[in-house]
Amino acid sequence: MATERTLSILKPDATRRNLTGKINARIEESGLRIVAQKRIQLTKAQAEKFYEVHAQRPFYNDLVSFMTSGPVVVQVLEGDNAVTKYRDVMGATNPANAAAGTIRKDFAESIEANSVHGSDSAENAKIEVAYFFSGLELVG
Ligand code: PPS
Repeated sequence: MATERTLSILKPDATRRNLTGKINARIEESGLRIVAQKRIQLTKAQAEKFYEVHAQRPFYNDLVSFMTSGPVVVQVLEGDNAVTKYRDVMGATNPANAAAGTIRKDFAESIEANSVHGSDSAENAKIEVAYFFSGLELVG
């Protein structure tokens, strides 16, 4: 299996409810390794740029507004098939559709306040990791 990295974000609903530790435990229990992590407050411009692929979608403004409503924790996760594995650990976008035992099923409040982001492909993971982290910050 291929060792990969993926970009994770613990969203403002998760930091507001003090869930960083509980979500990190789920990540580590899955076998993924947190190789970089920082807590930041996204600006509107930073969130708009990160989500620009969704700019034409009806929820774009709400998503940007939500992602700037409080601190987030951005992380780089490493492990075998990290992109797919983390998407499995996260669960479906809408917590109402998320499988039992997933982060979103157990912690998300709504389709907007859904606690976590994970890259959707290895290609996007590289772009997203580079958006938030320099090479010097990545300690494998
Ligand atoms: S995904 O994960 O890209 O396949 O999911 P997708 O449904 O395409 O959603 C992309 C991101 O938009 C968020 N989202 C929403 N935010 C606010 N309101 C509504 N209705 C909504 N629907 C989707 C969703 O959580 C995804 O955010 P990220 O940060 O990528 O997980």
